[in-house]
Amino acid sequence: MRYLPQLLLNNRAWAERQTGQDPDFFKRLCAIQKPDHLWIGCADSRVPANEIVGLPPGELFVHRNVGNIVRWDDQNCLAVLQYAVDVLQISHIIVCGHYRCGGIQAAFGPPTTDPLEGWIAHIRTIRQTHAGELAALPDEDARWQRLCELNVMEQVRILRGLPTVVQAWERGQQLAVHGWIYDLRNGLLRDLEVSINTALP
Ligand code: CO
Repeated sequence: MRYLPQLLLNNRAWAERQTGQDPDFFKRLCAIQKPDHLWIGCADSRVPANEIVGLPPGELFVHRNVGNIVRWDDQNCLAVLQYAVDVLQISHIIVCGHYRCGGIQAAFGPPTTDPLEGWIAHIRTIRQTHAGELAALPDEDARWQRLCELNVMEQVRILRGLPTVVQAWERGQQLAVHGWIYDLRNGLLRDLEVSINTALP
């Protein structure tokens, strides 16, 4: 335990607590993974997926990146999505953004360097698409928080057109896509009411 001894000690204590409360905890998790939800969230350290929805290990399949972005050309995200939908047969995909997201804020700032700039470019595009609505807001802070919401809605829109999702709906698999946003100030989630559980006509 030469490096990060505190984290490793924390881990031992955690594992002991789990088995203390439930002796079969790890045995059961080894045997099967059957989560019902895929979480696509921001990498931000202040938005710990499992914790904020109160789900223990084994119940949430998680993909996180800067700005909770879903891209048709991102093999990482697409592979997670495919595994979650086709193999794990999850019923719900939650795209969860958060207010005061640094990734979203960067899309209002000057160009940075790659690879971050290449990633932020997707958010800059959403900002451009909604330039009119954003310009009408009273100040910078309001524009930033609104783009956090618009970004989630855009990722939901992309998800519902991806082959993995469309094909699941075509074969009658139960699958819904939801857009949520998390408020760092009070720890509360808000449903952006863009849920969809069927292909659009
Ligand atoms: Co963020």
